[in-house]
Amino acid sequence: MNKLKHIAVLTSGGDAPGMNAAIRAVVRAAIYYDLQVTGILRGYEGLINGDFIEMERKSVANIIQRGGTILKTARSDAFRTKEGRNQAYNQLKSNDIDALVVIGGDGTFTGANLFSEEFNYPIVGLPGTIDNDLEGTDFTIGYDTAINTVINAVDKIRDTAESHDRLFIVEVMGRDSGLIALRSGIGVGAEAIMIPEANMGVEGLVTRLESGRKDKSSKIIIVAEGDEVGGAFNVGEVLKQRFPLYDIRISVLGHIQRGGKPSCMDRVLASRLGVSAVEGLLNGQSRDMVGLKNGEIVFTPFDHAIKHIDAKEITPAWLKLVEILSL
Ligand code: F6P
Repeated sequence: MNKLKHIAVLTSGGDAPGMNAAIRAVVRAAIYYDLQVTGILRGYEGLINGDFIEMERKSVANIIQRGGTILKTARSDAFRTKEGRNQAYNQLKSNDIDALVVIGGDGTFTGANLFSEEFNYPIVGLPGTIDNDLEGTDFTIGYDTAINTVINAVDKIRDTAESHDRLFIVEVMGRDSGLIALRSGIGVGAEAIMIPEANMGVEGLVTRLESGRKDKSSKIIIVAEGDEVGGAFNVGEVLKQRFPLYDIRISVLGHIQRGGKPSCMDRVLASRLGVSAVEGLLNGQSRDMVGLKNGEIVFTPFDHAIKHIDAKEITPAWLKLVEILSL
């Protein structure tokens, strides 16, 4: 085991439900292994500015169920500069912090990878993003809660759509990834799901609606924000012209998808990964993200975790499933 004495933890990038459960697990594991543990506020911004707080067992009491992040988060431009990273390193050194746990998504890991390489500094990452767009873990912390938030919202939209015989176009988050749209779309029985990985296009959607059943009183189209159509309003414009008899409404779910109590799946995932991150650091792991694949804890180098090429590939089987179910 490594001779670490003092570690720090931060959350960075967009918040995700389950980040608090992850912080709690890191802090409790650190205490269990007799390490001092510091919380860094507002991600890399706080690291550069020395915005540190001492964490103890009680600092993370009653947070496992809370959305957001008690450490707050930010997207840091300063950390992209060499000067900013130098300041960050000096803060760590002057506070005798031997290693870092970072919780976030691809931006967080890109920064961590660079920093760890430049200063030969040990860092392990936890995948905390609703987008589920990282390699090396079946699910990211926050994804399960987000898709449940989406289906709860769209179930409500379905009630009113059904009452008014309306077609709703619902836009969901995910940045470049269609994974939130895909799973939640299947979960709500959407008539069509538009994701960047499939590129159905508005014409493809029109064809699907023309060939679909005419006796359905409500229709729900789920559009991933990253789809090339450029958002639900663009889709709405085209559909209003092509189907003048349809009563069409648009709903952009927005940041509601990032909030709320984490699901049990996310709490347990965050707890397992948080403890494993600390154990990983103690075992000499660095520049790796810890994830869960097929039920097993795995460590994946940051530069592979952030590659989007084959990240959570949406296979033809998934697309066929969507087609079969939307009849
Ligand atoms: O990465 C998480 C995410 O919620 C994306 O799904 C979305 O595109 C983006 O963050 C929104 O970021 P912001 O909160 O900065 O608007």
